Amino acid sequence: MTAPQAEAVIDLDAFRANIAALKACAPQSAFMTVVKADGYGHGAARVARAARDAGSEWLGVATLDEALALRRAGDRGDLLCWLAAPGADFAAVIDAGVEVTASSTDQLAEILAAPATVRPKVQLKVDTGLSRNGAFGEQWTELVAAATVAQMGGAVEITGVWSHLACADEPGHPANGAQEAAFNAAVDELRAAGVEPALRHLSNSAATLTRPSAHFELVRVGIAAYGIRPDPRMTYETALTPVMTLRARLAAVKRVPAGASVSYGHTWTAERETTLGLVPIGYGEGILRTASNRAEVGFAGGRARQVGVVCMDQFVVDLGDAEAARGDLVTVFGPGADGEPTAEDWAEAAGTIAYEVVTRLGGRIERTYVGESE
Ligand SMILES: Cc1ncc(COP(=O)(O)O)c(C=O)c1O
Repeated sequence: MTAPQAEAVIDLDAFRANIAALKACAPQSAFMTVVKADGYGHGAARVARAARDAGSEWLGVATLDEALALRRAGDRGDLLCWLAAPGADFAAVIDAGVEVTASSTDQLAEILAAPATVRPKVQLKVDTGLSRNGAFGEQWTELVAAATVAQMGGAVEITGVWSHLACADEPGHPANGAQEAAFNAAVDELRAAGVEPALRHLSNSAATLTRPSAHFELVRVGIAAYGIRPDPRMTYETALTPVMTLRARLAAVKRVPAGASVSYGHTWTAERETTLGLVPIGYGEGILRTASNRAEVGFAGGRARQVGVVCMDQFVVDLGDAEAARGDLVTVFGPGADGEPTAEDWAEAAGTIAYEVVTRLGGRIERTYVGESE
């Protein structure tokens, strides 16, 4: 079989090892691996299976469709979804055994009105300061009241209460303590109304790594499971290995004279004679155009600069005087163990976060998996 022109190699052994290390950060809590947005670009169905193998009791996704896709892929474990616009088909996910989130009384009413054949399991979302989804202030009091009535009447089982942190990747930020206090107060209000939630959860990766007081009964871990730090400035003991390596084979190699300019707009010009390599992936695959002329790739055990603007299907690298031929492998990013840049390096070059670098990948890139247990 010929090697793919471009592939994202997903190391499931590294993924499972990251989960084991992260579970050890919160040994008293159950563990949810967040596999939304196609497993942060790693392929939700495959990473979901590996996460279960690694002892992830829960999986988490944003949309109802993502939850149903996991069920179609064969997942039968505890699964929570949390983002639905009005009109969402709650009945389908409830019947598929997925737990759903109610962020408002309206949403709880929609869930209760859904023609499901089983009693819904619902987790309540409180907004403790992120100001995204979730009920806040009086709306929380109303949601608690409505949920209590529904539970007393047997229409619903309230299984959990949860919220999401805004600044967990800055462990010293005062918002963390404030959100935690608001969360505890919201839980107290629910308990006072007569509902004892089995699961309280607040921690993302950053809080799982650094904030034990926010671990409660469950932690929800996304980016760190994929081996990427929530913020490169964070320090902690836990060792994580990047799971995705993006590589491609050079589609063209050419020697150009000094003065040759590269790609649309001629934003880069060779100062001396050099060898250019053409990497056959571009922004159609999610390569960030804002990284143009700033990123590097791994080539022949060293690094090569990306030059000229990233195009839809391709970008150019300056290989200098290195030996190079069509078909040679370029590592766009990977764990960094062989000197190649990481997704975090690309994020820095593009002025974004590594979450975006991996999650955007798609288009014509093939995914291949190594380290499958079966
Ligand atoms: C509700 C919720 N919980 C947990 C996570 C996981 O966050 P992280 O990838 O920072 O661990 C996310 C992702 O943004 C999320 O939306």
